[in-house]
Amino acid sequence: MFRKKTPSPTPPAEVAPPAPEQAPHSGILDQYVRTLPSEQNALDLFAGSWSSALPGLLGLAAGPLPIFDDDRIKKVLAHFDNNITGFKVLELGPLEGGHTYMLHEAGAEVTAIEGSSKAYLKCLVVKEILHMNRASFHLGDFTPYLEQSDDTFDLVLASGVLYHTLDPVGLLELVAKVTDKVAIWTHYWEEDAVRSDEKISRVFLDDPLDQQWRGRTIRLHPRHYREALGWSGFCGGPETSARWMERDGLMTVLTELGLHNITVLEEETDHLNGPAILLVAQR
Ligand SMILES: C[S@@+](CC[C@H](N)C(=O)[O-])C[C@H]1O[C@@H](n2cnc3c(N)ncnc32)[C@H](O)[C@@H]1O
Repeated sequence: MFRKKTPSPTPPAEVAPPAPEQAPHSGILDQYVRTLPSEQNALDLFAGSWSSALPGLLGLAAGPLPIFDDDRIKKVLAHFDNNITGFKVLELGPLEGGHTYMLHEAGAEVTAIEGSSKAYLKCLVVKEILHMNRASFHLGDFTPYLEQSDDTFDLVLASGVLYHTLDPVGLLELVAKVTDKVAIWTHYWEEDAVRSDEKISRVFLDDPLDQQWRGRTIRLHPRHYREALGWSGFCGGPETSARWMERDGLMTVLTELGLHNITVLEEETDHLNGPAILLVAQR
């Protein structure tokens, strides 16, 4: 006969608590990957939700868009004679790390700040796969970072973020505090383009706001996200709406901030989602 033992208060970790007969397993085993370790396994943690295609030679399956080989970033790099070796770059909103990769490949040391926890984790997966050892990703909001930062950067990349903020003028002011060079890709508001496209005009419901700034009037156009917020692929930012600048307002603010040497690298007035501009502004 075995003697009945007094149960220890904390069972050793490998001893599972007695399960009720025929209880369904909790799903914890679904978190284990039993196949050969691979980069694809890591990507598949987010299967079906990648936006970007990874560099072709790797033969890995992620998303459809060529963000790791983006013509916009090629134009920015060409503007700097494809020589940004040693540049300290701050990237706002890296999403899945595609532009980070291109900057890193071009020799930069990149600090990238991403607010979406899912996007941040994707960036870490990509960082590991692509050995981006001079890139660091940080989870959080770039606005308080810029407000509090004493760091300075050779270049700030603000691609796809200005038109997602409620305070684009304030964001530009903060950017100008930490750098003498900014590369921006953004949508902007333009009457004809917005009014002639029902898909775009329906998200601009409210009257424009006139922001008084340094003796100038900067017109901003409230843009509501509406049902986009219910889409699991939404990657705009943490706000429920944004305010779009006009092209002139953008140029005025950059100039007033001392970033007056402005080179327009690309302009798409008929972009699907609204007029868009790619520029580099320098002191
Ligand atoms: C439209 S995506 C642009 C991604 C990429 N930069 C590009 O141009 O393709 C905007 C990205 O910025 C991030 N983002 C927006 N606002 C942010 C904020 N205030 N702080 C940190 N990340 C933000 C979003 O989560 C998203 O990853």
